[in-house]
Amino acid sequence: MMKISPSILSCDYGKIAEELKDMELAGADYMHIDVMDGHFVPNLTLGAPVIKCIRKATDVPFDVHLMISDPLKYIDDFCDAGADIITFHTECDSPIGETIDKILSRGVKASLTVKPKTPVEDIFPYLDKLSMVLIMTVEPGFGGQSFMEDMMAKVSALRNEINARGLDCEIEVDGGINEKTIAIASAAGADVFVSGNALFSSADRKAAVEKFKAIAEENFCKNC
Ligand code: DX5
Ligand code: ZN
Repeated sequence: MMKISPSILSCDYGKIAEELKDMELAGADYMHIDVMDGHFVPNLTLGAPVIKCIRKATDVPFDVHLMISDPLKYIDDFCDAGADIITFHTECDSPIGETIDKILSRGVKASLTVKPKTPVEDIFPYLDKLSMVLIMTVEPGFGGQSFMEDMMAKVSALRNEINARGLDCEIEVDGGINEKTIAIASAAGADVFVSGNALFSSADRKAAVEKFKAIAEENFCKNC
């Protein structure tokens, strides 16, 4: 099943709870929450206390993307706040295996991601423990950037590895996803699509989510 994870980075932060409800009604499968520390990436967003507050707004699973230098230090906070999936970067300063085990010990799904310049193979040793892998299709830090099509080689390599090992692991893409690029990403083998600007700026969000899913279904793995 193709899943859509709207990135709340593009929502109106003055009314996050309403925006989450609106995206739930539009058909969102996950809510993508970007956490930035102003150190790992050159931008600041929000932390666990805000996630805890907005957790009440919807039952849709929270897909928390940690763009922070030391994720291990904060895993308990994000689990307590209600994260359902926690994604962190291989380029961070925390020990990767230990951080995954910490997430799993809390009954939360673990996911790893790589920045555009990092090879996807860096994730392969941990694949058996992951529910999802995120392939960044922009440099992390800001919404509204252009999709990097050359990241599709990573998506295909990952899809092949997951299939070869018979794993149940989703492949998410994040950055510059719109009606055109979702076709390219799904054809390469992605099945979870983060979208900020394109979804939040659309006049009819429900129609936009439905269209995204239909395009992804139609193109899935054409180039796997
Ligand atoms: C970028 C974030 C993305 C971003 C995507 O660092 O990880 O989740 O919000 O936004 P769009 O879809 O606008 O590129
Ligand atoms: Zn993100």
